[in-house]
Amino acid sequence: MSIKAKINAARRALEYVENGDIIGVGSGSTVSFFIEELAKSGKRVTAVPTSLDTLHKLAEKGVPITTLDHVDGRLKLAVDGADQVDPQLNLIKGGGGALTREKIVAYSSDLFVVIVDESKLVSRLGIGFAVPIEFVYDAHPLISKKLNAELGCTLTLKSCDGKLAPLISDNGLALGGLVFKDGVNDPFKAEGFINSLPGVLENGLFTKHKNTLIVVGDEQGSKTLTR
Ligand code: A5P
Repeated sequence: MSIKAKINAARRALEYVENGDIIGVGSGSTVSFFIEELAKSGKRVTAVPTSLDTLHKLAEKGVPITTLDHVDGRLKLAVDGADQVDPQLNLIKGGGGALTREKIVAYSSDLFVVIVDESKLVSRLGIGFAVPIEFVYDAHPLISKKLNAELGCTLTLKSCDGKLAPLISDNGLALGGLVFKDGVNDPFKAEGFINSLPGVLENGLFTKHKNTLIVVGDEQGSKTLTR
């Protein structure tokens, strides 16, 4: 994964941003480059951040921050990274644990610009990368059994330094991963089914945004993919 590829993707995403826009800003290392490029460009925007980490990075660059309730829950666009992208442009996101706010911001935006390098393009979601899940810790035996029976996946808990405690999200809930041995069979159905279980707040499958634009950066430049 090269830094140059991430910077090229970040620069291309900036082309969709205009002075005065109110934009969603995702999380992760590629988005950090986007924040750098945004600051360098001199474009004046107001941002809705998807994580505390992003909030601080934006604040450091002097980017004004707002919230979704101040913009009536609607954004012109959101820019975010992804962990995997399949040929239908379904995504796995949330490797950094910010999946819930990322999904709220993405699904509130008219255009969802996803910045990745080529290593994120896969033929099937969930092979070699667990689908992040955020949930009430007490529900984990129930969630684990139901998901294993219905989707054939295994719930693993994220722990800090091998301690017997789950990693906790910005929302104060437990974070885990769903391991699919042969990948996710039907990501659209899986996204809905996982969220229907008691105790689940959100999962990292993003299949329902109607206007997703993938920007793929490489060493030389970038290309875009749309549905
Ligand atoms: C953060 O929770 C994620 O959804 C990130 O967008 C995703 O993990 C991609 O991160 P990188 O840009 O660091 O690969």
